[in-house]
Amino acid sequence: MSTARWATAFSARARDHWTPARTAALADGKALLVPPAEGATLLRALGLLHRDASMPAPQVRKYFQIQHMVTLLGPALAALRARHSRLVLVDAGCGRSYLSMLLAWCGRHRWDQVIEIVGIDRNPALIDDCRRRAALAGLDDVMTFIAGTVEDAGAHLAAAPHGVLSLHACDTATCDALALGVRLGAELIAVAPCCQAELARGWAAKAEAGDAGAFAPVWRAPHVRRELGAELTDVMRALLVRAAGYDVAAIEFVPSAHTRKNTLIRALRQGEAGGDPAARAEYEALVAATGGVGLALADRL
Ligand SMILES: C[S@@+](CC[C@H](N)C(=O)[O-])C[C@H]1O[C@@H](n2cnc3c(N)ncnc32)[C@H](O)[C@@H]1O
Repeated sequence: MSTARWATAFSARARDHWTPARTAALADGKALLVPPAEGATLLRALGLLHRDASMPAPQVRKYFQIQHMVTLLGPALAALRARHSRLVLVDAGCGRSYLSMLLAWCGRHRWDQVIEIVGIDRNPALIDDCRRRAALAGLDDVMTFIAGTVEDAGAHLAAAPHGVLSLHACDTATCDALALGVRLGAELIAVAPCCQAELARGWAAKAEAGDAGAFAPVWRAPHVRRELGAELTDVMRALLVRAAGYDVAAIEFVPSAHTRKNTLIRALRQGEAGGDPAARAEYEALVAATGGVGLALADRL
């Protein structure tokens, strides 16, 4: 069956399945950006709807999570959309591209705006899968995917993007996404960090070398240095990006009861005013106060 015929048949099945009562039960009082009856092919392509158009319980959480993320980014995206008739967004470490596929869909079906996505992931099998899913969702004309690292992504991009997004890209890939966004002058950068261990590695090396200092008890405690290292990494990232000329906010995007990887760093480029030297000075002071280990990002911005 052709993709178009499949899409027509599946959309009809979804409209039958998602009666007003079922849709209201799913929503449970919340607004739905993508009601299943309307976004059936997208949700099927993302693996959130079953073949029979029902939504299995484990997928319900993901369904609400990605919509919530779009809502959180809403004001920043609306400002970008007001400035540009055609938006180009990079999804760095896109994985299965849940968020960016939803954004491309919203552009077409909700906002009447072309949102082009460039998804980048170092896993070629995932990239092949993203291409297949984008075609299923009817979004392959606005979504392209590159198998490669975030660090080298700039070389593959035809034009500078308006926004760089990166959700839970592993370890230092979040810093790579920030560096990419700043280097290309992206107006919006939004990253949700994951398992960043750069500081913890540096602190572990100091503990092993027997270095002394006020922070040494932290360096010696593996769990604490990992946890505190991740938190301080986000503070340092925010300072460095602010120093590079962005207004930066770190916000909690899901309650910590769901996941502890719940920080979203959202950065908006500030006109031509340039950077903020005070933020850079704060970064340097923080590095000094915690024993001298900083982020490689500092040399890249
Ligand atoms: C935890 S998954 C998150 C996927 C997706 N962003 C999401 O939120 O569903 C992390 C993804 O980042 C990719 N990744 C990690 N480091 C990367 C790098 N340096 N360059 C490109 N992709 C990377 C991995 O292959 C993986 O698909």
